[in-house]
Amino acid sequence: MLVIRAATQGDRDAIWNIFREIVATADTYAFDPNISRDEALAYWFRSDTHTYVAENNGRVIGTYILRANQCGPGSHVANAAFMVARNAQGQGIGRAMAEHCLNEARHFGFRAMQFNFVVSTNAAAIRLWQQLGFEIVGTLPGAFRHPQKGYVDVHVMFRSVPED
Ligand SMILES: CC(C)(COP(=O)(O)OP(=O)(O)OC[C@H]1O[C@@H](n2cnc3c(N)ncnc32)[C@H](O)[C@@H]1OP(=O)(O)O)[C@@H](O)C(=O)NCCC(=O)NCCS
Repeated sequence: MLVIRAATQGDRDAIWNIFREIVATADTYAFDPNISRDEALAYWFRSDTHTYVAENNGRVIGTYILRANQCGPGSHVANAAFMVARNAQGQGIGRAMAEHCLNEARHFGFRAMQFNFVVSTNAAAIRLWQQLGFEIVGTLPGAFRHPQKGYVDVHVMFRSVPED
């Protein structure tokens, strides 16, 4: 059974294992693929960030973060990032976490959600975000250096978060 819950300090190893695996291929996120455990976890558990895990039968197989995309007058727009363990991808975990995330964003009073850096070659992510109502509102030409495909575009994706 899939449970999505707030992450605890006890999830740090499991989150690092997923994070390390995802950034190692350098094809979806603009993180240093050799980022240290401490740096990665500091980013994922930043004090302004809500951190969650998806757990299946007691095993953490996904994680996401939710935070304000900007400070002050920009803080009503949320930002989020998602990672599913490679061997658990394509089984609906990402969709379940994204739906949970939108509910949490609504609960926290965010009015919209923005993804700042969706790599245009990341077909699974773009398809999922579009299915969930996100639109590509801008494209940054050649903003990502893909390890196999070279310089590729990056999309900014956005959707409103209606009040309850
Ligand atoms: C992107 C990611 C979060 C999606 O999570 P997931 O659990 O793999 O995706 P789901 O199983 O929930 O699939 C949801 C939808 O994504 C799309 N999708 C999933 N895998 C796909 C693939 N290989 N090709 C195309 N679309 C795909 C489908 O539209 C799918 O919906 P459907 O089953 O109704 O067709 C996950 O694959 C991941 O962590 N990828 C690496 C990190 C990353 O890219 N994060 C997002 C950065 S913007």
